[in-house]
Amino acid sequence: MKFFLDTADISEIKEAASWGVLDGITTNPSHVAKSGRNFKEVIAEICDIVPGPVSAEVIAVEYNEIVAQGRTLAAIAPNVVVKIPVILEGLKAIKTLSEEGIKINTTLCFSPLQSLLAAKAGATYVSPFIGRLDDIGHEGMEGIRQLRDIFDNYQLATEILVASVRSPMHIIDSAVIGADVVTLPFSVFKQMIQHPLTDIGLQKFLADWEKVPADLREI
Ligand code: G3P
Repeated sequence: MKFFLDTADISEIKEAASWGVLDGITTNPSHVAKSGRNFKEVIAEICDIVPGPVSAEVIAVEYNEIVAQGRTLAAIAPNVVVKIPVILEGLKAIKTLSEEGIKINTTLCFSPLQSLLAAKAGATYVSPFIGRLDDIGHEGMEGIRQLRDIFDNYQLATEILVASVRSPMHIIDSAVIGADVVTLPFSVFKQMIQHPLTDIGLQKFLADWEKVPADLREI
């Protein structure tokens, strides 16, 4: 399973990259707006830090504009993945840009049918938003289960990139289902390694070690 970080915050990206298990980055207009920085500059900087895929989202809803913005974003760095919303104009643009060899991440997917269409149009990734479905009383993870079966039924190579993740349980469920990627808020990424029994156990090991005579402690 691949782990992406869902942010445009450079300090979070640098820290997560230093852990050695970060595969890529996803951004969206809200993340970039929060960074307070120039869009193209911040994407270029992220691409320098992380060699894996970096999703940069178009801010357009009309085919020609989506395609033009997609080409511009893709030219920023070889690891840019153009993020396109799953609307009809977006679907057409996914087809065009994919045929040009540009990698596409389809965003704002809330039903497996939307993801199926995006895969058929040539998207490299589809991003089903699970947390926002949970927020309105739907079971977001059920859509991931259905999508895994659908993509497997038709041997579709498009990767399922689980987005809008809210908790470590979302990661476990995604991994059990066999989703390809999860994109995580920094706080959830950090939570993955935390366990109170690890901390308690480590304190005990260190305390016991202190009781060993110094000349026997050399490593
Ligand atoms: O970037 C797409 C997605 O991960 C956003 O998540 O938390 O705003 O629903 P959220």
